[in-house]
Amino acid sequence: MRYRKIPDETVRRLPVYLRGIRLLSNQGHDSICSRSLADFLGINAWQIRKDLSYFGEMGKPGVGYCVEKLERRISKVLNLESGHNVVLVGVGNLGSAVLTFAGFGQYGFNIVSAFDSDPKKIGRKKGLIIVEDVAKLAAIKKKNVDLGIIAVPAESAQHIAEELVAAGVRGILNFAPVNITLPRKIKLITIDIAMELARLPYYLPSTGSRNNKSDGAKDSAVSAVSARSI
Ligand code: NAI
Repeated sequence: MRYRKIPDETVRRLPVYLRGIRLLSNQGHDSICSRSLADFLGINAWQIRKDLSYFGEMGKPGVGYCVEKLERRISKVLNLESGHNVVLVGVGNLGSAVLTFAGFGQYGFNIVSAFDSDPKKIGRKKGLIIVEDVAKLAAIKKKNVDLGIIAVPAESAQHIAEELVAAGVRGILNFAPVNITLPRKIKLITIDIAMELARLPYYLPSTGSRNNKSDGAKDSAVSAVSARSI
């Protein structure tokens, strides 16, 4: 069963809940009420109850949520249960960091191949993976890969995205600072650290004038954003 009607904002928070619940589980908690979860995660308790209710997790009055059940349920909703094979294209600074990062396994992600166009990188080992020639990208069709990560320069990203889709990839995490256009059935998420950083200074209080009206408006905006942040 898939949970198509869950709002994107809720889906964005679900991995945060999952990470928190796993930490609590490791600390020996069997159950958790939304208020304690809220304190632990820094997210409003009402928001947590609403998010979890989208897939029928109501919790028991006076007891809260069963930690183990909630972890299984969120994993299922996020479609993480069966694991995913992932391919990376672009083994430069960022791609190398991705390949040597140990934290993907806990969500069931397995990076099975990495590709680059630079002959000096092809054939070399990065982490556990031997870098392959991007000209052979279509070979991933045999590896049951459904997710791709793009870490190539912006000018190559659209082409690489299309190649990934042609090779059977259905979801792409793009780090290149460019808009990529793909068929609607392909899920594309672009992460641009510079863009995230670019909106941060707006929320900084201006020194020496915190009591004026426009700063008050900014403070409210900061709170609103904090509540939404994940
Ligand atoms: P880099 O120059 O170190 O690495 C790029 C790699 O892509 C190189 O190994 C190059 O040989 C390879 N490449 C170039 N064209 C290719 C193609 N057509 N097919 C396969 N491989 C190809 O660059 P870096 O710093 O790793 O950045 C990678 C991308 O990520 C860039 O688009 C950059 O702007 C972006 N970036 C994004 C960040 C973010 O927060 N989203 C942060 C840093 C970088």
